[in-house]
Amino acid sequence: MKILSIETSCDDTSVAIVTCTGDIDSLKTTILSNVISSQTQIHKKYGGVVPNLAARAHTKNILPVLELALKQAGITYSNFLKEIDLISTTIGPGLSPSLLIGSNFAKDLSWMLDKPFVGANHLQGHIYSNLLNLKIKDFHLDIEYPAVSLLVSGGHTQLYLLKSLTDIKLIGETRDDASGECFDKIAKLLNLGYPGGPIISKTAQAYREKHVNDNIIFDLPRPLIHSNDYDFSFAGLKTAVLYLIEKLKKKKKYNKLAKQQICFESENAICECLTSKTIKLAIEKNAKSIMISGGVSANKELRNKLQQEIKKQNLDIKFYCPEFLLSADNASMMAIAGYIQYLTKGVDDPVELDIDPNLKIN
Ligand code: KG4
Ligand code: ZN
Repeated sequence: MKILSIETSCDDTSVAIVTCTGDIDSLKTTILSNVISSQTQIHKKYGGVVPNLAARAHTKNILPVLELALKQAGITYSNFLKEIDLISTTIGPGLSPSLLIGSNFAKDLSWMLDKPFVGANHLQGHIYSNLLNLKIKDFHLDIEYPAVSLLVSGGHTQLYLLKSLTDIKLIGETRDDASGECFDKIAKLLNLGYPGGPIISKTAQAYREKHVNDNIIFDLPRPLIHSNDYDFSFAGLKTAVLYLIEKLKKKKKYNKLAKQQICFESENAICECLTSKTIKLAIEKNAKSIMISGGVSANKELRNKLQQEIKKQNLDIKFYCPEFLLSADNASMMAIAGYIQYLTKGVDDPVELDIDPNLKIN
């Protein structure tokens, strides 16, 4: 079935056309188009997403993004009605003003075209992003279960245990800031720009390459790393960086090198916390797979650390991460989330279904 999907939960306006076939175990996907319009330039000067500005930009962008997605998928206005089988959109979690734009647009399309409609969960979309591939037609991933799924984004840091694609249980999550939020806030303290994750990662990587044997680095905390649960905490790390910057400024040692070292140490601290709890859960649950997703899953150091740890501990675990372009918010992941929901729960009534900014899985 050919799915038109719409994602506007935060600050990316995205429309995709994805073909999904098979049942839950034999699922195959082909991405025909996946258009993403980023609003980074708008929110950059505020150091974070401003919900009302995001909604206004979604309103402006959604039609051109749809137009481009249809064009790239080879769908014209005249065969639109015939080609599209299902309309899927994000109904939560996310920012209310943003969610409303995409979901109402999807509802209007479904009503006007008389097409079935599903409202899908953004978090499930991230988890399923591993089942997509931008280049391979009829892509299928044979995931072995149980699988541990680490979802790391600007709004979430969660560990799930999957017994199948639809049996998803939340095991642990952050008690305060999300890991992406921590990257963004530390970048803001260092005056490095927004979004912080990619900037910190790039700076840390450059430092890492030049200073292989250095151990002069500042001592930043790894909150909750040894706690007896699967929770995370990142607010203390951000505060520790704030105090460190103040201390360095007083000593007149706050320079370019110090900033690079802070990026390096912050990335290490965040990635070590994420890796440690993910591996611990995988061992405890005898997991056969580890999957990561969300904007922070684009982080190369996180990918390296998880794979190194699997190897070091000689674990028989397969590691999956989404393609870089599919790590962050995109509509393709909402097509597959919509398809799985369609298979398991059927369609939604666009008139009755409301957005839920705090939507959880199950
Ligand atoms: O999944 P996403 O696009 O949006 C949300 O649903 O939140 O994630 C955005 C987050 C931002 O906090 C951004 O700084 C972070 O993902 N991010 C990264 C990297 N690329 C994006 N964090 C660390 N390393 C990266 N390479
Ligand atoms: Zn997201």
